Amino acid sequence: MDCLLRKERERTLSGQSNTKTFAFLKPEALQSKVAGEVLSRLEKKGFSIKQLRLHNISRKEAETLYTVHKGKPFFQELVDHVTSGPVVLMILEGSNAVDVLRRVVGATNPQTAEPGTIRGDLSLSITANMIHASDSAENAKKEASIFFHDGI
Ligand code: CMP
Repeated sequence: MDCLLRKERERTLSGQSNTKTFAFLKPEALQSKVAGEVLSRLEKKGFSIKQLRLHNISRKEAETLYTVHKGKPFFQELVDHVTSGPVVLMILEGSNAVDVLRRVVGATNPQTAEPGTIRGDLSLSITANMIHASDSAENAKKEASIFFHDGI
């Protein structure tokens, strides 16, 4: 119910269903040379790439991005992974972008993510699970603002 109310509020505030979201390809995507395939899947689904940038995430940026996970047992490993090499930052546009992208990306744990999703098809590690996608329009704005001065 909270989720429905939040989505309705987001629709009211923006005047329409959210159309932009934030995502980044984790270092694993570049290391295993599937960055192109992931971007191709996103484009084929219908997303427009509005911003795209190769970036080395600093530990400070990673800790800000994942602040809600601070103190959890996987936090250090997660920060270590996303700072281990370049990532591909992006802002994507498409109808109902936040929810659609989360479905295309699949469940957090690639071992249980559905086949056909990015994580279900391309990864096995919960930490190096290929791609991060914001889980709400509010978080997409917050997360995008860490890396893109103009935000979403
Ligand atoms: P991401 O979409 O980047 O958002 C938070 C990340 O934390 C998530 O993908 C996983 O990589 C990681 N994560 C979440 N839950 C766990 C867990 N139980 N064990 C290890 N890593 C996790």
